[in-house]
Amino acid sequence: MTAGRRPESDWTVSYFGRVYGEVYRRHLLSPERTRQEAEFAKRVLGLTPGGRVLDLAAGFGRHARLLAREYWVVALDRNREYLATARKGLRGAPGRRLAPVAADMRALPFGAAGFDAVLLLFNSFGYFHAEPCDDTPAAGISHREVWRLPRVFYERNLVGADHGVYRLGALGRAAEARAGASASATADPNMIILDGAARVLRPGGGFLMEQPNPRPVLAAVAEHPRRHFSVGRFSVEEEFRYDPARRVLENRTVFRGPDITETAQYRLRLYTRDELVRALRQRGLRVVAVYGGYDGERYRAGDSECILVHAVRR
Ligand SMILES: C[S@@+](CC[C@H](N)C(=O)[O-])C[C@H]1O[C@@H](n2cnc3c(N)ncnc32)[C@H](O)[C@@H]1O
Repeated sequence: MTAGRRPESDWTVSYFGRVYGEVYRRHLLSPERTRQEAEFAKRVLGLTPGGRVLDLAAGFGRHARLLAREYWVVALDRNREYLATARKGLRGAPGRRLAPVAADMRALPFGAAGFDAVLLLFNSFGYFHAEPCDDTPAAGISHREVWRLPRVFYERNLVGADHGVYRLGALGRAAEARAGASASATADPNMIILDGAARVLRPGGGFLMEQPNPRPVLAAVAEHPRRHFSVGRFSVEEEFRYDPARRVLENRTVFRGPDITETAQYRLRLYTRDELVRALRQRGLRVVAVYGGYDGERYRAGDSECILVHAVRR
């Protein structure tokens, strides 16, 4: 899409467009990196063959595709084109085991306790903000919409018969309540995603979440508020601004390709390790470990690559 065609408030749709998909999938996120991340997830989550995994904000399914070699995987994302890529070319058992679900991660269309593990990887949390905009939880969700997994999931009793039915009743009311509450300074509209993850995990099931590590990110932004790089056929110009009052990192990116220029932006709420740990505990998750990267080193606030939290549903 070209500059200005989508409203800024809907950045979670406009930023994750075709060019982002191409630049990140083809150039910035290497297969080796993705393999390392998927192996790490398998190891720390202690998944057993045939386990049921929900990959939240799965994007083009780079983790989901690998995990579907051994597990039943639901790849959930709002971008249908990314989901089509996630499924593309997968044959045999992995093809049957990967179910793409187009939905909003703030209103999960699944029954309680249906998954052995939930993933929320690569900075996919912190997208929603308390100030008025159309980021509210119910935005873009049709109240009557029903998502179903492929039949094999029901036939093999991997999920209950009602799995995939989006019931507006309880979920819609919760979403509306949160949207209302978000007007207050303390409410955080992102927390509904953790509520949902905790709800769909079975007791003992594992949650893995990867977020940016604020200190090094903000140091880098302070030093280089603008950066420019080229990958493949694209040049990428990024400009950053941090709003300390709202704790939001704002980015404006211009992607230039041979026949396209896309201007997009994102607004990411940053969290400290302690804030994430507290939020997970409040939702009945026990934090097992906090890592600073996918080679399993311990998290260090000053210089870790990311905050990688492993928690277990009580
Ligand atoms: C940074 S990408 C991460 C993708 C993937 N986890 C990975 O590691 O490559 C974030 C993804 O979140 C999706 N997304 C944004 N808002 C969403 C929402 N409300 N519900 C579901 N997916 C959403 C975007 O479409 C995008 O694919």
